[in-house]
Amino acid sequence: MPWIEAISADDIDRDDVMRWDYGGRTYAIYRTEDDEFFASDGLCTHEKVHLADGLLMDYEIECPKHNGRFDIRDGSARRAPVCEALRTYPVKVDVGMIYVELPD
Ligand code: FES
Repeated sequence: MPWIEAISADDIDRDDVMRWDYGGRTYAIYRTEDDEFFASDGLCTHEKVHLADGLLMDYEIECPKHNGRFDIRDGSARRAPVCEALRTYPVKVDVGMIYVELPD
């Protein structure tokens, strides 16, 4: 499970989400109001819409298309119409850079 250098922590505002593409896949990286960082797959499990275009509210990301919600801490589905969980990934910050642990 390699740690991949993603983006600078300063590139994301607090209470915001950013798209990150790597290895032919799309991810979403989140920064909370309290400077916690999380990462998940970047596409909604409902209809493959980019979650980085959605709205982050505390620990929930709201999909921009049908307003389904996921908990960014564990990917669980929080509001219909999403029912399939989002995959999440461990994140660490080191010297201002965000690293995401991806499967081999
Ligand atoms: S595409 Fe995300 S809730 Fe429908």
